[in-house]
Amino acid sequence: MPILIAPHARLKAKARAIAKGDDDAVRSVIPRMFATMYTAPGIGLAAPQVDLGLRLLVIDLMPNDKPAPIAMINPEIVALSDELATREEGCLSLPGMYADVVRPARVKVRYFDETGARRELEADDLLAACVQHEIDHLDGVLFVDHLSNLKRNMIMRKLAKEQKLKK
Ligand code: NI
Repeated sequence: MPILIAPHARLKAKARAIAKGDDDAVRSVIPRMFATMYTAPGIGLAAPQVDLGLRLLVIDLMPNDKPAPIAMINPEIVALSDELATREEGCLSLPGMYADVVRPARVKVRYFDETGARRELEADDLLAACVQHEIDHLDGVLFVDHLSNLKRNMIMRKLAKEQKLKK
């Protein structure tokens, strides 16, 4: 699936919750999203990045180089730690761009998995940042939106320049 590059209206839009009638579409799109993410390669991909306005994301941190795929349908953050952590982030929708982002160090998230089972996940370290980054995508928020205007504008200008050169 083609990955949208920022700036793009879909990447700024709030995605809608997945309902019962979306089951077939979601079942067919999850494997395609994983394939797109592994090919990129990336560790997370949210549906809006492949032009779908649905609350759906996939993550795989590949711990010890082994697949550990997680698909989240309608994920909701139910708890965030007061403690913060700074981590360098990138995004498949901002290729080649990286910046330090400060976020809560730990997160608890509830979601439905690809079988429709209700799940809860407590994450820290890289997974905590990744989950928050991907859920942000469902609300039209990019990692650069957590930076100062100055830094964000610098990155967006650099990205626009590089994308223009690629054409
Ligand atoms: Ni991203």
